[in-house]
Amino acid sequence: MQNWDDPLASNLGTSPAQPTIAAQPFDLEATTTDAAPAQNADSSAVVDTGATGLEDIEMGAARIRVDDKKIINCHADLNQLVPFKYEWAWTKYLDGCANHWMPQEVNMTADIALWKDPQGLTDDERTVIKRNLGFFSTADSLVANNLVLAVYKHITNPECRQYLLRQAFEEALHTHAYQYCIESLGLDEGEVFNMYREVPSVARKAEWALPFTQSLGDPDFATGTPETDQRLLRDLIAFYVIFEGIFFYVGFVQILSMGRRNKMTGVAEQFQYIMRDESMHMNFGIDVINQIKLENPHLWTDEFQQEIITLIMDAVKLETQYAQDTMPRGILGLNANMFAEYLQYIANRRCSQIGITPQYEGVSNPFPWMSELLDLKKEKNFFETRVTEYQTGGALQW
Ligand SMILES: [Fe+2]
Ligand SMILES: [Fe+2]
Repeated sequence: MQNWDDPLASNLGTSPAQPTIAAQPFDLEATTTDAAPAQNADSSAVVDTGATGLEDIEMGAARIRVDDKKIINCHADLNQLVPFKYEWAWTKYLDGCANHWMPQEVNMTADIALWKDPQGLTDDERTVIKRNLGFFSTADSLVANNLVLAVYKHITNPECRQYLLRQAFEEALHTHAYQYCIESLGLDEGEVFNMYREVPSVARKAEWALPFTQSLGDPDFATGTPETDQRLLRDLIAFYVIFEGIFFYVGFVQILSMGRRNKMTGVAEQFQYIMRDESMHMNFGIDVINQIKLENPHLWTDEFQQEIITLIMDAVKLETQYAQDTMPRGILGLNANMFAEYLQYIANRRCSQIGITPQYEGVSNPFPWMSELLDLKKEKNFFETRVTEYQTGGALQW
């Protein structure tokens, strides 16, 4: 299992990734990030770190008012969920609960038969399945660890934390789903779970993300200065906008394309539920990012925005490379050029969602069916299984 101290690139013959302070532009040619020692905020600055929820109980203290609440560096008691200030966070928590599902409810019988049939799938199709299970099986652990060991402590708002707890459970379900697929198909677990440190195209994405969360996970890290607040904001953008919002999408397109062609429909259905969850995670993250910007406009400097643009554009290159590595020849009606355009298209959307000018001109969505798949109700006859029965409450409007 992933450990903060594990050298991600040890099997790639390179040195381990190290946390960096401000993210350096990622060198796409290198297999490790530049090593830089973690530093804490300027100790001479006044640090306003906010509450954690573990403070002593203050008998007779004034009751919480909505205006006392802040998304970071808040001193109000974090153990009182209400009164709500951020209704969107509570709504997303309810939406997540209303769309609960479990991996073992998905029928994998047809997948097992197809996988075991020597004529069932081409080598290229098998590579796509294995590489994506390899990437996602550890990626969701990275996201979960980022949430509970790095982000949660620094988000000083109970309704947002309530969503983070729901999200953390969903990330556990996703790792469970990948394990369930790996086990059902009888894949070599050691091979799949080690891809993120043995297969460069898989490793590079994990390696790109890890320094952001390592920096926040440093026990001496605290928000409360412009530099450290920006560091938190940068981690949120790296994980919610880039990792979950860009790095997941080649895999989603590839696996869901198989489902659309009636191949590996159980794996595809698992991915469809996961994509729906991930879309909500990203939208929650974007709301948090925009709320932090709103409450702390001094963090959103031109320089910081330029740094974020560089991160997003580097991520697009990295994910385009992942598409080429996982699918060197066009299959399933997909090819590398389509992925390049798709990634630029979604990067433009991500930029707009956080208030940055879209960076790629003249691109459109080569996979319009992807947005349709996010709405499970419309797709209820697409896969053979019982999609709509998972709706335990209000349906989502995408
Ligand atoms: Fe996930
Ligand atoms: Fe997620």
